[in-house]
Amino acid sequence: MSKQLDAAHGPKQLQSDMDWKENIVYEIYVRSFNDSNGDGVGDLRGIIQKIDYIEQLGVTAVWLSPIFDSPNRDYGYDVRDYFSIHPEYGTLDDFDELLEALHERGIRLVMEIVPNHTSTEHRWFQEALASPDSPYRDYYIWRPGGEEGSPPNNWTSFLGDPAWTYDEASDQYYFHTYAEHQPDLNWDNPQVREELYRAMIFWLEKGVDGFRVDTANVLSKNKDFPDTDETRRIQGSGEKFYKNGPRIHEYLREMREKVFDRYPDVFTLGESSQVTVEDVEKYTLPQRKELDLILMIEASKICDEPDDMWRSKPWKLSMLKDIMRKWLKDLHEDAWIGMYLSNHDHVRMVSYLGDDEHHREESAKMLSVFLMTLRGTPNLLQGEELGMTDAHFFNSIEDIKEQQALAYYDLMVNERGMEPETILRRILGKARDHTRTPMQWTSEPGAGFTTGAPWQRINPNKSEINAALQEDDPASVLNLYRRMIRLRREHPALSLGSYEPVPELDDDEHIYAYVRERQGERWLIVLNFSTSPRQARLPQSLLADLQTADCVVCTDEHRSDLLKKDVTELAPYDYYVYRLS
Ligand code: NOJ
Ligand code: CA
Repeated sequence: MSKQLDAAHGPKQLQSDMDWKENIVYEIYVRSFNDSNGDGVGDLRGIIQKIDYIEQLGVTAVWLSPIFDSPNRDYGYDVRDYFSIHPEYGTLDDFDELLEALHERGIRLVMEIVPNHTSTEHRWFQEALASPDSPYRDYYIWRPGGEEGSPPNNWTSFLGDPAWTYDEASDQYYFHTYAEHQPDLNWDNPQVREELYRAMIFWLEKGVDGFRVDTANVLSKNKDFPDTDETRRIQGSGEKFYKNGPRIHEYLREMREKVFDRYPDVFTLGESSQVTVEDVEKYTLPQRKELDLILMIEASKICDEPDDMWRSKPWKLSMLKDIMRKWLKDLHEDAWIGMYLSNHDHVRMVSYLGDDEHHREESAKMLSVFLMTLRGTPNLLQGEELGMTDAHFFNSIEDIKEQQALAYYDLMVNERGMEPETILRRILGKARDHTRTPMQWTSEPGAGFTTGAPWQRINPNKSEINAALQEDDPASVLNLYRRMIRLRREHPALSLGSYEPVPELDDDEHIYAYVRERQGERWLIVLNFSTSPRQARLPQSLLADLQTADCVVCTDEHRSDLLKKDVTELAPYDYYVYRLS
């Protein structure tokens, strides 16, 4: 059932024998990637300037964060016009040029589509507000208030405030899963769906190769809007009533039929909140004809408290192993996930799964081996390939530009009267801004990102962590990523093969070992997730196979036979990748 990618669009020379599942996706957070005109904001021409870098990295697809016209209060996840590019990012001509440049190098372009909500500045919402009789009124979700002027129910948005906002003129409330300025579209209205399909087709006609479909699992709402009993949950209480809503599968199938099936080489990455294995099977089993994959969010939320994502909880390696077992082993083998550890919504992986203080380089490298040897379609966030870290230099509320963290501060301090210091500490530690600081190209003042004043502060560690420094250093994080990406592309077993954790090490809180296997090709991966040396004891069955195996990638080439002994000691963040057969 796999969709084959071939040279369908113009000069594109994509590998025709590659299954779409084997893509390695590079997330470009456009605003922070490269600024071509010195206004401090990354842009499309800036990406064109870095096309060789992207090609040398070896990724097969680039996913662009939203670039449509938008007031940018949620940086493009609040769309004002689905058919034009935000002027800060460039023009439609720049877009066409970028698409062509990527295709010339055989790299696919994945766009972001935000179908669940628009900006309040979108023409549809403006019309809906101006006149309750307008056909656009039913593009959104309106309800009268409850008794005593309360909202229609007690749900909270993902920003923690009520999920309903009052419109005085019509004496009604509109619903928003996210911020008040991001009203939810009414997917039960067929015209809304047609308008969104038209927008997707506009970009597909230009030749884009795929979409990340934002919040794909919440498009269909249970319109009874019952109160929720989740009183402890701060963000998104009530979600259980609209997650995987009543008509979601019907809508996704319709979208596939009317849009994506007309462009057979296109693939869809569904973004979703936490869902179960069964849910993902429903969304992605090929015969169901819905989405191609769901981006697995659970690993990136491993240290978030479920009731309040701004509160951290400690994580253990066994928790990570449990997550991977569920998604890489228990999931039906024909269902599919996108695998990422960080994206623009979560902290940087070297700072939470690794140790960015004492073992930054070692742990960034170990994590590159991890990400590139897991089943699924990996998504790599810009800067991850350099081992870029969280912004530990953030120290005041002015450093925070993203709305969710700011809304939390407002809610907890101004409405609930909590200690400002406590709340500030929480958001400074986890704000989405950590992954949105500008890309570190050089050690210059603007990090090679801009010649002007950057929209978000540049991490001062740019002097030690930057692409220029790593370019020619064979031992750099960047060069290991390039190597791992090449290895993954050459060996489909690493993308498509089965994932089998070594059971004898299941409870080990430091050593992580698993086997990937496909069509007689077997790989063993052994990683030390610890800041200190740890003993590894592999089972006899594997030791026998290891005796004749080659270590293809290892921390230290001189110690490539290390794991062939009964008991051995691995240095902090050691990584060993053996080809067993
Ligand atoms: C998920 C996106 O990744 C995030 O950045 C955005 O704020 C929400 N969806 C709402 O669109
Ligand atoms: Ca710019």
